[in-house]
Amino acid sequence: MLRIGKLHLKSQVLLAPLEGVNCKGFRQVCAEYGAGLTSTPMILANKLLEDKARQLGIINFSRNEHPLMVQLAGNESELMKQATLMVDEYADVIDVNLGCCEHDVLGLKAGAFFTKHPEQLKKVIPPVMSNTNKPVTAKIRIGWDEKSVKTVEICKALEDFGVSAITVHARTRSQSYSVKANWNEIKRAKASVNIPIIGNGDVSLPGNAKAMLERTGCDAVMIGRAAKGNPIIFKRTAYLLETGKNLPEPTDLDQVNCFIRFADFYNQQEKKSLSEFKQQALWFASFIRKNNRLKDSIRSASGFDQVTRAFQGEIRF
Ligand SMILES: Cc1cc2nc3c(=O)[nH]c(=O)nc-3n(C[C@H](O)[C@H](O)[C@H](O)COP(=O)(O)O)c2cc1C
Repeated sequence: MLRIGKLHLKSQVLLAPLEGVNCKGFRQVCAEYGAGLTSTPMILANKLLEDKARQLGIINFSRNEHPLMVQLAGNESELMKQATLMVDEYADVIDVNLGCCEHDVLGLKAGAFFTKHPEQLKKVIPPVMSNTNKPVTAKIRIGWDEKSVKTVEICKALEDFGVSAITVHARTRSQSYSVKANWNEIKRAKASVNIPIIGNGDVSLPGNAKAMLERTGCDAVMIGRAAKGNPIIFKRTAYLLETGKNLPEPTDLDQVNCFIRFADFYNQQEKKSLSEFKQQALWFASFIRKNNRLKDSIRSASGFDQVTRAFQGEIRF
């Protein structure tokens, strides 16, 4: 069983933080399908302090969603401290984003900025750690660019600060998504520290997760893009890791049922948006074999029920 600090996780397969994807309903359906931990998207500390209500509304927190990782990003100690105090009651784990490559985030000297300046980690890690009793983790990229890969240096610095685990997205800031993730850096990270390493990058099938664990020795895998519209990947991956056997390919009925569970959760959210729901529905629909008619129905739907009925209609034929 995977442990992050005092938290025991049921599965080694975790949902990555995904801005624009990880609404509450999606996090809940991924957890139901076997994700050992789900995550909020990144929350910028300065935005949280400027407009707490709006930012917390976007995340749609509730006190009964567990286990949940809340991800913060920022550069200033006081802001990170205040942000930690604000999210602490909702979080089982607080993660610090050290890998985001978006211009506005780099402009704030946050996210992947720290892969260039690990000496500045003291501005963001200790203020989080000293204001929560929850485990604190960090999610890194392996360096600023190919000439300055700093995986081991960053991981050791983070371990010295006392973080409970590190997620390694095995690409540099400059690589964005343009090259294959370099799993060898996950292996180097694992060999360099005594805390759990969560491997991340290019796990798009259950077999990739098994291969990553075997090749790198990492303690868990985190799935990002391949989870979009596809929470079934958590069930399939956890099953393969537990039994060594593959579940049969999901049928269209499995995928429709998965969407309906998502819709149940989504409809219970305090804050709903039809456009967000339709976007999620289109991602789920892309895993249904002949999906043109379904996608057209989703696009033209004028209500939540109409979208769900379009999926139910797929089962009848
Ligand atoms: C749409 C999208 C949104 C993302 N949002 C975040 C985020 O909020 N925080 C973060 O640490 N990483 C974010 N990432 C990066 C992912 O968490 C993950 O590290 C990356 O996609 C590599 O994993 P994958 O190959 O499984 O997709 C995002 C990626 C995508 C595609």
